[in-house]
Amino acid sequence: MSKVQSLRVIRSVAEMVKYRRQLASAGKRLGLVPTMGYLHQGHTSLVKLLHGKCEVIAASIFVNPMQFGPKEDFTHYPRDMARDVQLLAEAGCELVFNPSAGDMYPNGFQTALEVAELSQPLCGRFRSGHFRGVATVVLKLFNVTGCSVAAFGLKDYQQSVVIKQMVCDLNLDVDLVFGQTVREADGLAMSSRNSYLSPEERQWARLIPQTLMWAREAVAAGQVNAGRLKTEVEARLSSDPGLKVQYVEVVYPETLIPVEVIAPSAVLAVAVFAGKTRLIDNVLLEAPLETSGRA
Ligand code: PAJ
Repeated sequence: MSKVQSLRVIRSVAEMVKYRRQLASAGKRLGLVPTMGYLHQGHTSLVKLLHGKCEVIAASIFVNPMQFGPKEDFTHYPRDMARDVQLLAEAGCELVFNPSAGDMYPNGFQTALEVAELSQPLCGRFRSGHFRGVATVVLKLFNVTGCSVAAFGLKDYQQSVVIKQMVCDLNLDVDLVFGQTVREADGLAMSSRNSYLSPEERQWARLIPQTLMWAREAVAAGQVNAGRLKTEVEARLSSDPGLKVQYVEVVYPETLIPVEVIAPSAVLAVAVFAGKTRLIDNVLLEAPLETSGRA
């Protein structure tokens, strides 16, 4: 049997619940990588992170309508189920949960989960209701699959802290693991949305990771004044007329509140349009020990 043949695809909530109960009575733990599909190595790196942490590794593929705004790309979001299944099987995933929107949100659905403060800044300022949709679907995926452990990428940094807070606040019995951002050879963070980029936009987008890496080095060399760093990052990103900056923020890693002095660390998060495609990226900034606390 090929690896792909050994991967089981479950397409309904009812069947997933049945399987979850079988696993529980056999005393087996399920590890989950929630995704919206159109997978790349960023996603498969999360599957690999779960090896050894559970008996069954599963991924969900569900383009969640609740986390898209009315003018966003829900209907155009890229999809390629056959390729996704192949990539997941190769990474050692054994189960794919791929429910329909009608099954996840049947008529009469009316409950939503709000992680109040952490959902407000950064992407939350421009994507109203986005993190409510993310938190709600992730909680549903946790409940339906009964996962004991789940993996998320730091590429979506705000999402990772929102989910951490939700798990803590609601006493969810799910261990979280977080994976570093996987990048293309030229530094661009892998993203399903990179497929929207024209060759020209793809060239412009290289400036995003280049600027983040420059910022990381500037802070390591002693530039711990967040205001000045932000101004310089904005100027560098705006130097390419093909890019349009939506936000540049330097925030505390846990609270996402803006930082004035980077000591000892902060997250630099950006959202930038390359043409019509909105790209996000972030990097952890670490001040040198001897300058910590000095602006
Ligand atoms: P999606 O964008 O498909 O991402 C699924 C997971 O892969 C997320 O945890 C994301 O942070 C991670 N990921 C994406 N690109 C990555 C990269 N380059 N390196 C490492 N990890 C990366 O994020 C979502 O879907 C959705 O919001 C979801 C959590 C599934 C809820 O609908």
